[in-house]
Amino acid sequence: MAEEAVLGHLKHNQEISDSGVFSQEKGIDHEELVNAIKRLNGFLYVVASDIKREKWLLSEEAQSYVKYGSAEVLLFEAVPAEGIAKAKLQEIVKSKLPVDLDDKTKSLIYDKGWAQAMKNKWIGLADSQVSRKVEHVEDKVKDLLIQIQNGEAVGAKDIDTLKRRRLISLQIWKGYSVKKGPDYRPKRNKAATDLVRDHLQRDEWKDIEFKEYNFLAKGQPTEGGCLHPLYKAGQSSIDVKQQIQMIFLQMGFEEMPTNNYVESSFWNFDALFQPQQHPARDSHDTFFLKVPSTTNSLPEEYVERVKTVHKSGGYGSRGYGNDWKREEANKNLLRTHTTAVSTRMLYALAQGPFTPKRYYSIDRVFRNEAVDRTHLAEFHQIEGLICDRGLSLGHLRGVLEDFFSRIGMSKLKFKPAYNPYTEPSMEIFSYHEGLKKWVEIGNSGMFRPEMLRPMGLPEDVQVIAWGLSLERPTMILYGIDNIRDLFGHKVDLSLTKRNPICRLGLN
Ligand code: PHE
Repeated sequence: MAEEAVLGHLKHNQEISDSGVFSQEKGIDHEELVNAIKRLNGFLYVVASDIKREKWLLSEEAQSYVKYGSAEVLLFEAVPAEGIAKAKLQEIVKSKLPVDLDDKTKSLIYDKGWAQAMKNKWIGLADSQVSRKVEHVEDKVKDLLIQIQNGEAVGAKDIDTLKRRRLISLQIWKGYSVKKGPDYRPKRNKAATDLVRDHLQRDEWKDIEFKEYNFLAKGQPTEGGCLHPLYKAGQSSIDVKQQIQMIFLQMGFEEMPTNNYVESSFWNFDALFQPQQHPARDSHDTFFLKVPSTTNSLPEEYVERVKTVHKSGGYGSRGYGNDWKREEANKNLLRTHTTAVSTRMLYALAQGPFTPKRYYSIDRVFRNEAVDRTHLAEFHQIEGLICDRGLSLGHLRGVLEDFFSRIGMSKLKFKPAYNPYTEPSMEIFSYHEGLKKWVEIGNSGMFRPEMLRPMGLPEDVQVIAWGLSLERPTMILYGIDNIRDLFGHKVDLSLTKRNPICRLGLN
């Protein structure tokens, strides 16, 4: 109704100069009118300009003064010309006040009237007797309040006094002046937001006005589709994994195929000269498969050579001199390291004429470990190896320094270690600037002849290799001290969303 009134009025008139006046003329609630104006302004049917007016509002007390006279005048008039005992005055004042005022208001008028009449020096108090000090008084306060109520101008000084007596308070009135807008029409068509079945069925779609698309409206913030820090895209769309992949590629390494999580014990352990009695081969450390529990094919001749090197040695080694069971080698497991893949690749390489190779892989491995701040049963392993003639420990140190400096870890220390398949073996430590201490970051070594020679690799071929977890440098980069915050079912998804993108120290 308000909308129609506004549009209808503008059809014949230039403007609505004041929404307050308009609302009174048309008998429309001002708030309802304002809402209609705002709506029409939004649809460009009208152009609305703000009007602000300050208005003095009379308090309840002031309203009673307008009706009956101000408190001080009422009090003055209650004092007879001959004077009155102070003790009796309140009673007299109250009895002279209009009967329709309640007792509380009467007491209030008495109190205020007394204070004000004394202040005005209209009355005086001597020996408990109240007497008039002037002949006649004028009710200036009542007159001022009436003027204000009628919207007439009142001097600043008077306003100030009334304000201080809390008889009036300022109210800001907001309204509009309204003119036709660029899309003015005498009636508003409610534009359809969506094309619906009814529009088509009733053939209405041709005549309907559709709401314009607002291409500037902001979309809903997207909820899903957030990359995990391990895979998070960097500035040039590469993640931690890809950044390391890039480093390997820049260093001339080829990727190994790591697409099989299930491996036989033979490739995971035996071919690596890991004795069958080694604790890592216990079910406490490794996940063995129930179905299928064993592998059905192994390269038989190679298996024989591996068996021999375990039992009685060869190539200058004494072997372990213990029993070696084929059933143990056949057992299927979830690979405990990607070195199983390296072994398969080296074996394949040994089947042809020898060519030097640099291989790498980054993929998942599994260990039956007690999960704690730094261990998970499932993590990602980075592995690199170089296979060539005449390699030494110096080459290994050189390549490790090159590799790790490219991921931003240039201060390295090496510590002798033991792996069944490498000799010598070295643990790699890096100085952590944030933690101000050396942290272990990986393991490395030169593959033993007991591993390489049964494959058929020439005697003068050496393999230098190293491995580390992908989680380790990622944790260091993101400042995460609990691996469970990074990977696995306990990861806080909102943290994953908020984490900034980290870049390795690429240069
Ligand atoms: N396989 C080792 C591990 O799981 C890493 C390693 C790779 C060590 C190559 C030496 C050589 O920790």
